[in-house]
Amino acid sequence: MSQAQKDYAKLHAISKDIKTLRGIASLLSWDQETVMPPEAAGVRAEHLKVISGVIHKHSTSLKFSSALAKLIDIDTGKPVVNGLKHPQKAALKVWRREYKRDTALPKEFVESFAKLTSESIHAWNAAKKDNAFTRFSPYLEKIIHLCRKKADYIGYNTHPYDALLEEFEPGMSTKELKKIFNQVKKGTLPLLEKINKANPVDDTFLYGNFPKQKQLAISEILLDRMGYKMSRGRLDESSHPFSSSCHPHDSRITTRLDTKSFMSNIRTILHEGGHSLYEMGLPLEEYGSPLGEAASFGVHESQSRWWETLIGLSKPFWSYTLPLLKEKFPKQLDSVSLKRFYKGINKVEPSLIRVEADELTYNLHIILRFEIEIALIEGTLSVRDIPDVWNQKMEELLGICPDSNTTGCLQDIHWSLGVFGYFPTYSLGNLYAAQLFEAFKEDHPHFEHEVAQGNISFIKDWLASRVHRHGQRYTGPELIKKATGKPFSPKPFLAHLDDKYSAIYAL
Ligand code: CO
Repeated sequence: MSQAQKDYAKLHAISKDIKTLRGIASLLSWDQETVMPPEAAGVRAEHLKVISGVIHKHSTSLKFSSALAKLIDIDTGKPVVNGLKHPQKAALKVWRREYKRDTALPKEFVESFAKLTSESIHAWNAAKKDNAFTRFSPYLEKIIHLCRKKADYIGYNTHPYDALLEEFEPGMSTKELKKIFNQVKKGTLPLLEKINKANPVDDTFLYGNFPKQKQLAISEILLDRMGYKMSRGRLDESSHPFSSSCHPHDSRITTRLDTKSFMSNIRTILHEGGHSLYEMGLPLEEYGSPLGEAASFGVHESQSRWWETLIGLSKPFWSYTLPLLKEKFPKQLDSVSLKRFYKGINKVEPSLIRVEADELTYNLHIILRFEIEIALIEGTLSVRDIPDVWNQKMEELLGICPDSNTTGCLQDIHWSLGVFGYFPTYSLGNLYAAQLFEAFKEDHPHFEHEVAQGNISFIKDWLASRVHRHGQRYTGPELIKKATGKPFSPKPFLAHLDDKYSAIYAL
């Protein structure tokens, strides 16, 4: 083994220990959200505080930085050794970027940010409950001030938002996002206008009484069909569904069961199952290195939205699944044809709440938040004007206006946590997924026939070979280009919307 390979292996070993600590922290959080006794909340906060301190200490330690510096110049990013393979060089870039981010912020800054956001979340909760924006706004002003400071510490070339975005979607810029989102807006708004004028779709049969146990039985069948291994995962209930992974052999999901409607559980299972399959598909031998980590938040979301929307809202999928559902709920569904069912689950209806939005209008909710975030970080919008701007943009993009801030600008938790730059990855996920799906269809021209038979696990294998196995070797846009042979573009997504809704609404 060459010296460079030995040094690389040493860095990987140190990094693996840090990853394992992160895994322990994520198990603590999983437990907190699922089965923890309520009175353990206090001590759990202690657990998490101590472990995150330990993680920070390790990832900014001299031991780590000197191992890294043997392979790459931390200041300039230039390689300092020969004899490394391409993926290893890509991994070093990620290690360096993350190390620089971890050490860019002074300790006092990190502490005051953590203190502010833990107070803000309570203020946001109360403000949302009482529809009282001014109870949250002083906190939000401070958060934005600190986010701008954070961008300065981290550094950026053209836009302070770039520094915030990089945490979630490296390789994407504010300028590029503005261009992409304008294209999405231009493609979506005329389509929405036509749908609003078309004959409405009936979805009343989706609501009724659907006992939890029967819904859970369907969930297990679907996860099994997708290729999700229960021997490496779990399914539990939680108030906010999520997926949590600490290793490809331990990747868990949760769902929320609503007895009045079965679709929210099914979409959640496919969504979180998609996130989890990504984690299960990461290369085992790279555990602890960037090559064993998901590429980005946007790419992660592409995997969940792929299963939730491109598969889970498609006709072939339901031609297999509807009979299963009818077995469980014959009274409600026996008289519903596949055609009527498919139309019903794809009903488009502008709504106030992002997490309840349909596939077409969802991105408009993201674009609205993105435009507001940019203006806040640029300083061209002041916090007190958020409610007015929010309502005006809702009117412009969705044609509806909230009658309270609770269902308007206070609906999402993200800003109270100090998370700016995250929302765009929700839309990028849809766009990446659609472009991947085009390439998938070329490779599997008869996939619809297979899916209609209930054979869907080959889809997971395709995603594993095109996306999962690369870890963080590529950024989101690079990975999409590598996997599809074409530069990243929103066009496949817009074409998908056009085809789908023209058929459903006979446009
Ligand atoms: Co997701």
